[in-house]
Amino acid sequence: MITGIEDPLAADVVAGLWADPPTLPTKWLYDERGSRLFDEITRLPEYYPTRRETEILEARSAEIAAVTEASTMVELGSGTSTKTRLLLSAFAERADHEGRTFRYVPLDVSTETLESSAATLRVDFPGIDIVPVAGDFTSADLIVPPSSGPRVAVFLGGTIGNFDDEARAAFLHTIAGALDPGDYFLLGADLIKDTGRLVAAYNDKAGVTADFNRNMIEVLRTGLDTRGLYADDFDHVARWNPKRHRIEMWLRARRDVVVDIPILDRRWELAAGTEVLTEISTKFDRATLADELATAGLDVTHTWTDDAGDFLLTLARR
Ligand SMILES: C[S@@+](CC[C@H](N)C(=O)[O-])C[C@H]1O[C@@H](n2cnc3c(N)ncnc32)[C@H](O)[C@@H]1O
Repeated sequence: MITGIEDPLAADVVAGLWADPPTLPTKWLYDERGSRLFDEITRLPEYYPTRRETEILEARSAEIAAVTEASTMVELGSGTSTKTRLLLSAFAERADHEGRTFRYVPLDVSTETLESSAATLRVDFPGIDIVPVAGDFTSADLIVPPSSGPRVAVFLGGTIGNFDDEARAAFLHTIAGALDPGDYFLLGADLIKDTGRLVAAYNDKAGVTADFNRNMIEVLRTGLDTRGLYADDFDHVARWNPKRHRIEMWLRARRDVVVDIPILDRRWELAAGTEVLTEISTKFDRATLADELATAGLDVTHTWTDDAGDFLLTLARR
């Protein structure tokens, strides 16, 4: 955060919009509407990652519960916790069998989604102690709550791809630091594949991803009470960056945009055709990811892919 600017959105705007290229943190895509749109994206025909990761979790959740013997699961960026239900069922069954309690700690920036999914989970999993935490998983003082037994931190959905190389190394280091030796880290990551399929997954025919991306303009407009900023003035752009193995989502100005931000006492000007970077989604190969985890002090014990080999689930031990 910039010193003197206490509103985190304002701080990120000041740090990002005047940068070259203008860039905003991906987390600002996820207000209540953004979270709903992302949930819709996960069911689109082009968006294979959710279906593939679900396929792996369906096959492996019981094994993950048996290997980790965890009594607490912290999920970073839990969203609607839909796929997590497969893990929760497996952990709940084990805990029930052994006569102990299992605790689930979903953590997300999207408070409304967090609260509503926790309320539904409490009904569906009455035996699990559900403790939602509203927070930012990039925070350096990230806490995985203490537990009488082993803990597993879970990071699904390929969200790890939203970090650039430097931020990813810092994040893995933070996670490893928050875990004790013997705890586990379960990571879902999307694998490098055919460019056409990758781009289509971020530029669906129905235009839901375009709405999701443009929603960031609405978050800025309402959060900072701007003048002259309209979502309709931006096009959604998704393209593959072959050098950095990542999909990049941009918002491209359709016309010259002039925005006044009275609470910051600033004017932001963007020429027609100029782009703002809103999300990166890095794609991985297995070996590189295992090396990165090992560098952070997390040793890979298991890897699983779906039948098509599209998505990778990695279990690593601290
Ligand atoms: C790609 S979605 C994945 C959601 C879910 N885990 C899944 O696999 O479908 C990313 C999730 O992380 C949350 N998120 C994004 N940035 C975050 C941050 N810095 N701190 C905490 N949560 C964040 C979003 O609100 C969203 O729920």
